[in-house]
Amino acid sequence: MNKVAQLLEMQPIRVYEVATFYTMFNRTKIGKYHVLICGTTPCRLQGAQKIEEAVTKHLGVHIGQTTPDGMFTIGEMECMGACVNAPMVAIADYTKGVEGFTYEYYEDLTPSDVVGILDTLKKGGKPKPGSQHRLKAEPAGAIVNGEKWIPKEGVTTLTGPPRAPYCRDLNAP
Ligand code: FES
Repeated sequence: MNKVAQLLEMQPIRVYEVATFYTMFNRTKIGKYHVLICGTTPCRLQGAQKIEEAVTKHLGVHIGQTTPDGMFTIGEMECMGACVNAPMVAIADYTKGVEGFTYEYYEDLTPSDVVGILDTLKKGGKPKPGSQHRLKAEPAGAIVNGEKWIPKEGVTTLTGPPRAPYCRDLNAP
């Protein structure tokens, strides 16, 4: 970071601020897979703590650590915008180097799902990304019929014509 500051002719603190804020700047060597567990409230409410326990127990390392074989580093991130399918993890894949970097979300996880995903990656396989138990983000319990879903109890919301949004009457006294 000091060298970067020197090259860019700026104060080192400017580089530290950026590098410590964005989680995609890794300041230590990480494994081939960077497992980022979402730790924000919706995921926590949906069982992220159990996902974290399953990952750390299965890999034998804690958040911020890398497995001795250099395969997995565990990290934590804040909301990754997939709360509707919480809990979730994002896994960055560096097996093709930094230039070949890819990134997948794994959602609607149970502890056994996440262990299965890690084992598949370890064997060189490609786990199914996205929701592990739903087609996409349809209501829980919806009946999935091919690429469509049908609400189990029928549609219960947004069934009528939309109300116009509130607008102040500028001519009103
Ligand atoms: S809280 Fe986990 S994706 Fe939003």
